[in-house]
Amino acid sequence: MSAGELSEYGRDGIMGWRRPKPTMADKVVLVVGGGGREHALCMELKQSSHVRELHCAPGNAGTSFLATNHPVAATDIDGLIHLASILDADLVVAGPEAPLCAALADCLESIGIPCFGPIAKLANLEGSKLHAKQVMRDANVPTAAFHVLSDGSDIEAALDDFAGNPWVVKRDVLAGGKGVVVTQDRNEARAFIQHSIQSDGQVLLEDFLPGEEASMLVIMDGSGFVCLPASQDHKRAYDGDKGPNTGGMGAYCPAPVVTDTVRQKTIDTIIKPMHNYLLSTGTPYRGVLYVGLMIPKSGEPNVVEFNVRFGDPECQITLPLIKTDVFELLEAASNDRLAELQVEFHDFFAATVVLAAEGYPESPVKGRLIHGVTQEFIQSAETTAWVNHAGTGFDSNGNLISTGGRVLSCSASGPSLEESVRLAYELIESIELDGSHYRKDIAFRAL
Ligand code: AMP
Ligand code: GLY
Repeated sequence: MSAGELSEYGRDGIMGWRRPKPTMADKVVLVVGGGGREHALCMELKQSSHVRELHCAPGNAGTSFLATNHPVAATDIDGLIHLASILDADLVVAGPEAPLCAALADCLESIGIPCFGPIAKLANLEGSKLHAKQVMRDANVPTAAFHVLSDGSDIEAALDDFAGNPWVVKRDVLAGGKGVVVTQDRNEARAFIQHSIQSDGQVLLEDFLPGEEASMLVIMDGSGFVCLPASQDHKRAYDGDKGPNTGGMGAYCPAPVVTDTVRQKTIDTIIKPMHNYLLSTGTPYRGVLYVGLMIPKSGEPNVVEFNVRFGDPECQITLPLIKTDVFELLEAASNDRLAELQVEFHDFFAATVVLAAEGYPESPVKGRLIHGVTQEFIQSAETTAWVNHAGTGFDSNGNLISTGGRVLSCSASGPSLEESVRLAYELIESIELDGSHYRKDIAFRAL
């Protein structure tokens, strides 16, 4: 099947994923970004009964089957504004954080185009970890204690303060997942502190939080918020949470570590105070707030980080659990109408396993042929499996090739976590990419 031929696109079957095909569809949507998250967004928006035209900038091979790809980088704000204007877009959905930190939403607002994603001032919750810590302190949201260190600070005294546990050092810049060091080695912690002060002027040293991590994606606007089912990502490259940090090697949803009690505590002690705080800044936060949680044995959640976008790959396995038309949800949040919407969820599970290129994360090999990828949903009575494209493109002969470190992920949903994980692995085993690797233990904590 080639680009543009998927007129019957949609998930089918007993699980009821197929939504009515557009009859009165009249909306034009532009998705910004080109990774697995944006492919997942396009998959959902393509099924909306409201979306007439779907565009993506720059997109990937997967989005080219669902949307019109435009060669505009996600960081080219002028290019994106121009594109949104000539398309006469009804909605722009920002995938990554970089355009939001560079004022994409602010610029769109000035020309009257709604944006799913916050204005730059609020996107700074992800842009600056120090700012996020200050906000959490002001909003009385639980998070690790911290020191801000700069030239002349007593580094040894600060290290002493948090001794006994690993040291957590965080650079205060967008560093694409490479800005945090967690180490038991005092020399390594000190060296990273000194290096960060030299390059950024200051650095954060945090108290270590023990526990299990989970991601809660919260759709927010000036009228309210909707918490999506919590998920768990696997950030280390290799099995058993070994190896270097990555963007994420796989995820599953819902994550049982977020019990009903933990979820309610998260809403009461973190989400509500953050929503109130963001309202008090004068301009509503319109988009998704990614709340990175650490849940200790006591079940009292702490915030590890905020992101101002969907997680990748969390997005790929969280959106399919939303029963409500995803366009309606994103459009409502972009126009302060969330409180009017009744959002419903499916009660199944979803899991995704990332296929990474040889050399990822240090120096991924790109440009290799990929075999065995289908664009279709593989369905049985109770399950669905599908491929999310991330770093994919076409060579000059139209063959599918790898263009990034995280190349694609194989996803599946089903009535149990076991079944969705099993199907995701069955699918990934059928795909060939020389030198690629993937984790064999996705969801091991929950299973
Ligand atoms: P961040 O970019 O802030 O999410 O940090 C990257 C990773 O470092 C997190 O996903 C955690 O695994 C770990 N981490 C960050 N802060 C802490 C902390 N205070 N205690 C324990 N682990 C942390
Ligand atoms: N998967 C982690 C993130 O998107 O930040």
